Amino acid sequence: MPNEIRLNPLSEQPLDILVLAAGLGTRMKSGKAKVLHQLAGRPLITHVCRTARALEPRKIHVIVGYQAEQVESAVLETLERDLVSFSKQEQQLGTGDAVMAARQALAGSPATVMILSGDVPLIRAETLRLLLNNHRQYGGACTVLSVRLENPTGYGRMVRDEQGRFLRIVEQKDATPEEKQIREINSGIYCFDTRKLFAALELVKPQNQQGEYYLTDVAQILVAGGEQVNVFLHTDPREVSGINTRADLAEFENLLRRNAVRQLMLDGGVTFIDPSRTYVSPEAEIGRDTIIYPDVQIEGQTIIGEDCELRSGTRITDSRIGHHVKIKDHCLIVDSDIESHCAVGPFAHLRMNAFLAEGSAVGNFVEVKKSRLGRRSKAMHLTYLGDATVGEKTNIGAGTVTCNYDGRQKHQTVIEDNVKIGSDTMLVAPVKVGHGSVTGAGSVVTKDVPPDTLVAGVPAVIRKRFTERNDDGER
Ligand code: UD1
Ligand code: CA
Repeated sequence: MPNEIRLNPLSEQPLDILVLAAGLGTRMKSGKAKVLHQLAGRPLITHVCRTARALEPRKIHVIVGYQAEQVESAVLETLERDLVSFSKQEQQLGTGDAVMAARQALAGSPATVMILSGDVPLIRAETLRLLLNNHRQYGGACTVLSVRLENPTGYGRMVRDEQGRFLRIVEQKDATPEEKQIREINSGIYCFDTRKLFAALELVKPQNQQGEYYLTDVAQILVAGGEQVNVFLHTDPREVSGINTRADLAEFENLLRRNAVRQLMLDGGVTFIDPSRTYVSPEAEIGRDTIIYPDVQIEGQTIIGEDCELRSGTRITDSRIGHHVKIKDHCLIVDSDIESHCAVGPFAHLRMNAFLAEGSAVGNFVEVKKSRLGRRSKAMHLTYLGDATVGEKTNIGAGTVTCNYDGRQKHQTVIEDNVKIGSDTMLVAPVKVGHGSVTGAGSVVTKDVPPDTLVAGVPAVIRKRFTERNDDGER
């Protein structure tokens, strides 16, 4: 006889997720809400929200309070507006009170609610899925995710009877010396039957050392009411560690960085000259045989191709870099695109959608903003290219400046193919230099330059028209 498969009725219940993020986080010693502190380049709260979204819940309810507006906008950076609902906890009276703030939005519906903490950023979606399956399989009123820690200090302890059955959670500050010996801790992550959760929350009293409404008391109240409370003991303690202090934050940052670098070395074939001195965002992608020198930072959703070389002191944020690109020392590259076979730096600054087409190069102290440099074009020294479009095989001489701002508005500069801009040329935008033209050293170009023309002087005037060209279109 085939095994009969019976779905627990709970498995058909919709899933809501509730994220607690109203607290200040006193132990951070900060004027800024704890969940707004950055980990791996983005606020703590966004890490949890992304993981929550991976479970495809019906809704993600975020409890906000301290600096509510800033927390809300951080959440909306990662979650679609119609997936989120915010509830405000007016006074931070404890985790139980925080959940109560969402009563209007949640209570009454036959749903499962999963509770997450905004300050537990490393929890993986896979683990949460296991917890949810476990909750649905055993069908209790509550399932608590617990772990065993070498050092359980600071966490709520899981108290069990002699038979190992769960009794209650006791907070560090309320624990007896014997209870403090317990190494199994409450991760602060749970699944609840929504209606039973809110019924039990009504009975929570702030009778403890901190005078707070503890969410953790709900477990004991449910047990006393004859409800089933299950414990899901997880094996990876690091995943459920909470961030409470800046020391915790630094430790997590390090952990994330080490993991990202290790994975890139072992699975990605990337060389790090000194892995301990390189920062790589967990979202970055790097191609094989790329070599990264010490003190390089790769942030956000950056993609780097194969066989590139990134020299010391460089920071790259949210940018895309092709194959065989050399980035020399001390470059800052933000929101930009660099195609294959380009060379950048030393001391170059690319920002706001700077685009370097294949085989082009920018060198020492060159800033490129909202500008496009065509294939095999070069700007090697002390140059500012802002709001400019440069064609192919054009050379921009040392000290060239696109004067793009008239004090009120930004204007465009267009430089076509095969142009030679002489050293120290000022291009007063809006202005266009036609293909094959040349500007003399020190020119101040205030009017459009026709193709194949030499201009020079202050202001630049036409000195010569070129006629002969070779097959490559060069003179
Ligand atoms: C909590 C648990 C503890 C568990 C630990 C795991 C309680 C009483 N204790 O303790 O058993 O081991 O998490 O990390 O729940 N928050 C609010 N409003 C409040 C208070 C807190 O929204 O009034 C939010 C915080 O912003 C934070 C989360 O709830 O994101 C947890 O609060 P926190 O004060 O850090 O609780 P812990 O002392 O760590
Ligand atoms: Ca905490």
